[in-house]
Amino acid sequence: MSTSTTIAIVVGSLRKESWNRQFAQALAKLLPPEVATTWVRIDDLPLYNQDDDAQPAPQVTRLRQEIKAASGVLLVTPEYNRSIPGPLKNAIDHASRPWGQSVWNGKPAAVCGVAGGPIGTALAQQHLRNVLSAQSAPTLPTPEMFIQWKEGLVVDGEIGPASREFMQKFVDAMLTWFQRQA
Ligand code: FNR
Repeated sequence: MSTSTTIAIVVGSLRKESWNRQFAQALAKLLPPEVATTWVRIDDLPLYNQDDDAQPAPQVTRLRQEIKAASGVLLVTPEYNRSIPGPLKNAIDHASRPWGQSVWNGKPAAVCGVAGGPIGTALAQQHLRNVLSAQSAPTLPTPEMFIQWKEGLVVDGEIGPASREFMQKFVDAMLTWFQRQA
């Protein structure tokens, strides 16, 4: 990838000890050194209100700029009640407006997630794919990443040895996908 490649990473959990954040941070270490990352904040965004479209909060402008500037967006999310967490949907909605100015339009994306249960966020990811599809954000089809949190998945901030080869395949496929959509 070119030296100007930047991946925006959005984590769907606001929790301090979030498994998804720990996993995302470990996954980011598998990126080649020339690829930059932007950690997109979503915890300080106001609730989306269409009345504010003409005068967005500074946090919303920041979010839109970060997504716009990125070569691609990696979304790492938990599953809440078989869907995506509200704060993540709120962020996606913010970045999709005002109408006709969505920063998702044509922006390549990739999705993954970690859960305590064996389905590993499969349903949340399917919902997320629908949302991104509505925004014309081409999303990496495979490999799919349905991950159950287990001891050894993240070890000292790195992807554990048993999972590393598979996770590297995902990261490489994501970079190829982002490059292909550029
Ligand atoms: C959950 N959790 C959960 N897990 C799952 O596999 N499917 C689900 O539908 C849900 N639903 C759900 C709803 C709500 C409101 C909470 C708080 C949790 C459990 C979830 O996988 C677990 O809390 C993870 O630790 C959340 O990810 P983070 O915050 O650790 O990244």
